[in-house]
Amino acid sequence: MNKRADFSTDLERSSFWMPFTANRQFKKTPRLLARAEGMYYWTPEGRPVLDAAAGLWCVNAGHGRREITDAVAKQIAVMDYAPPFQMGHAIGFEFASVLAAIAPKGLDRVFFTNSGSESVDTALKIAIAYHRVRGEGARTRLIGRERGYHGVGFGGISVGGMVNNRKYFGSLLPGVDHIRHTHDPSRNLFSKGLPAHGAEFADDLERLVALHDASTIAAVIVEPIAGSTGVLLPPVGYLKRLREICTKHGILLIFDEVITGFGRTGSAFASQEFGVVPDLITCAKGLTNGAVPMGAVLVQRNIHDAFMSGPAGAIELFHGYTYSAHPIACAAGLATQEIYRSEGLFERAKAMAPYWADAAHGLRGRRNVVDIRTYGLVAGIELASREGAPGDATAAVQQLARELAERQTQREGGHREESRAMQRARERARQLRIAHRLGRHRVHRPAVGVVAEHRADRPEKALVVPAHQHRERSAVTLERRPNEPLVRELARARKSIEHGHTPLGCSARPARYVGGSAIRPEDLIDAHRAAVDD
Ligand SMILES: Cc1ncc(COP(=O)(O)O)c(C=O)c1O
Repeated sequence: MNKRADFSTDLERSSFWMPFTANRQFKKTPRLLARAEGMYYWTPEGRPVLDAAAGLWCVNAGHGRREITDAVAKQIAVMDYAPPFQMGHAIGFEFASVLAAIAPKGLDRVFFTNSGSESVDTALKIAIAYHRVRGEGARTRLIGRERGYHGVGFGGISVGGMVNNRKYFGSLLPGVDHIRHTHDPSRNLFSKGLPAHGAEFADDLERLVALHDASTIAAVIVEPIAGSTGVLLPPVGYLKRLREICTKHGILLIFDEVITGFGRTGSAFASQEFGVVPDLITCAKGLTNGAVPMGAVLVQRNIHDAFMSGPAGAIELFHGYTYSAHPIACAAGLATQEIYRSEGLFERAKAMAPYWADAAHGLRGRRNVVDIRTYGLVAGIELASREGAPGDATAAVQQLARELAERQTQREGGHREESRAMQRARERARQLRIAHRLGRHRVHRPAVGVVAEHRADRPEKALVVPAHQHRERSAVTLERRPNEPLVRELARARKSIEHGHTPLGCSARPARYVGGSAIRPEDLIDAHRAAVDD
């Protein structure tokens, strides 16, 4: 454990090549997170950081959900892994039916992947193969949209429309084209909900049909709300029109719902929210509340069935991943979906959307804020580029976000009405640090209790956490004798822990590490030393 804690001293030489990160800058000035619970992360120093983005748009039910942890622990004990090729396990089938039940009507076949990127590649492959098994093998062209993001696989960056994700990686997939994006600040600035203007942008697909001929086009993929390029909302009527054009030309429509899935818009899927049913949906992230990597492609029954016509013993789709329908991911997913259902989180997102929109639009008029776009629990706040550096708002935005986050957490840190949960969590983080420090003193006496705290609710009690247990948060509760000095009590506790029985004169029993008002670290260290020297 100490090894793990020490890594931060030598980050600059660390082996970890971090994804989508300015590695050199980060390693010089790291922003490390150590713990998460509810809406917050905590830094290794114990400073809370508001997780305003739900991780990377994935922790839709909040961090540290006990239901998910328990389900994962249970599943890993029962069956940690099973091959998904030519074999199966009940939990995979169960999770597929749970997803089918909340999916838009008709999309009741589920192909499991491990990420959004893999879901996208899977959906594109299914689309091309679908046309081929139906005898339309010339339909291989894939159409994406400018400013789209579909992950980082070669399929995803080819249909995607973000320049930096494409320009370093060669010629990408052949036979890909893009329709225009839907962002139109000249008509749709500061839209609350879907922007009024721009349904006709969908007609750009007709231009590509005219150019390539529909008989060569397999599928069109779009995000219902484009997230990664700055929350670009579909204009009213746009998605419906896109659906109509696809249907007219026999082109499959894929909605990439990796971020809009699982409640972000106020419905399970944006497809339901906007009343437009695609042929395939890609999802990931909120599928398992971000707790275990997993993705899925939801597929219209008729597309699936088209594959099911060959010889019964033949593999219908030559595609899959070692970890498709991984049992641990399925367990996390089932627990997650149950949380969403039982707590009504999708409905809650819908109910909160107007407040969220009002709050976000309340920033209108602030310096450098040039547009605000909101839908459901999504908001995009666009800042002006820096003067003389067109397109370079990024650094300024990051800086601003950091400052805002700092200010927010400082304010919370010093706030008199700080929630009890926050106080408890902060206290716990502090005590764990104490435990680390004290742990170093126990080199020669390995089983000494190292953390003690008075229980605020019951001052006659103290918790003593053995060094080797504090990470599991188990503890021994001591009934304190009135006025007995803590030092002596700790000495007794140590002895009893070392000998594996109850301290003399105390009733000791296992207890959960429940927090409470801690004694000062210095006192603890002194008490511990005294106990060791006893
Ligand atoms: C719309 C969309 N598609 C695909 C992806 C890729 O997902 P992953 O990072 O899990 O591969 C993302 C990730 O943010 C996304 O926003």
